[in-house]
Amino acid sequence: MKKALVIGLILIIAAGTVFAGPSGQTSGQPPIGVAIYKFDDTFMSYTRNAIETNAQGKAVISTVDSQNSQPTQNEQVDQFIARKMKSIAINPVDRTAAGTIIDKAKAANVPVVFFNREPFAEDMAKWDKVYYVGAKAEESGTMQGEIAVDYWKANASADKNRDGVIQYIMLKGEPGHQDAELRTEFSIKAVTGAGIRVELLAEDTAMWDRPRAVEKMDAFIARFGDRIEMVFCNNDDMALGVIESLRKAGYFSGGKYMPVLGVDATAPALQALSEGTLLGTVLNDAQNQGKATFDLAYALASGANPSSTSWKVTDSKYVWVPYQKVTKDNYKNFQ
Ligand code: GAL
Ligand code: CA
Repeated sequence: MKKALVIGLILIIAAGTVFAGPSGQTSGQPPIGVAIYKFDDTFMSYTRNAIETNAQGKAVISTVDSQNSQPTQNEQVDQFIARKMKSIAINPVDRTAAGTIIDKAKAANVPVVFFNREPFAEDMAKWDKVYYVGAKAEESGTMQGEIAVDYWKANASADKNRDGVIQYIMLKGEPGHQDAELRTEFSIKAVTGAGIRVELLAEDTAMWDRPRAVEKMDAFIARFGDRIEMVFCNNDDMALGVIESLRKAGYFSGGKYMPVLGVDATAPALQALSEGTLLGTVLNDAQNQGKATFDLAYALASGANPSSTSWKVTDSKYVWVPYQKVTKDNYKNFQ
């Protein structure tokens, strides 16, 4: 009984110390811990790959899946510290939990780079070895809104009921996430700022998730039918879910069309652009966000200052990676 327990414990410890990094020549390479809020997120899987690719030959990266649970992630941070990681890169499950993570990291003197989910400024201010890599959420909202404006102005038939107002649906990502809140706000600001009136038919969250977006859109179509004139989605996975739902309802064939907008420019979204279903998206640059996250974590792990990297560090803490508009005119440049 006791022996089995001991063996069990040894196995657990052994499993916890397996490095995800490449085997072979890793001596002298600093160990860096990376936690992703959940692996099962399309955009985050791109970012994760970019971090791992950039780390090759430079650092021993240990990447863990926080499985959308903040308590799980907090334990993972404890383990990273116990395993003497030289720095950690954290994609928080709940950005309001960043303060706790910073306190732990500071006590152990392990520098932290947060990415994709922006901690509050007061938490960022707790320690000088805390950084954030991300994109300006409002910028993606504005760009999405501008694509909507261009379409509306170029297509008089988009105003189905000819009242001069866009009747629209808003599908949000996770409430409280800066990208969900600010994309929602700034996309519509860009439209109204261009002098176009809008009427919100319904707003709901599908938590960044495609299957949930299908369900929500099925219900909106049942409720509003052809009154819907445009659908704004905080990301591409949800936009693709909306398109799937619209297809079932007979859209995208026989001249029946609905403008649907996303953000991220994932591979399936670019495919949808090429097929003429998705109207537009905004590149959320996973390659550069992943590279910047690694470069900063690596500099910090090596005792260097992040401003010595090729990235522009703003307010001594932030690296901002720009967004780009993607439509049928330029999507090929992003494939
Ligand atoms: C956003 C992205 C979403 C989702 C989210 C996760 O930047 O647009 O698709 O990945 O991050 O935090
Ligand atoms: Ca209208």
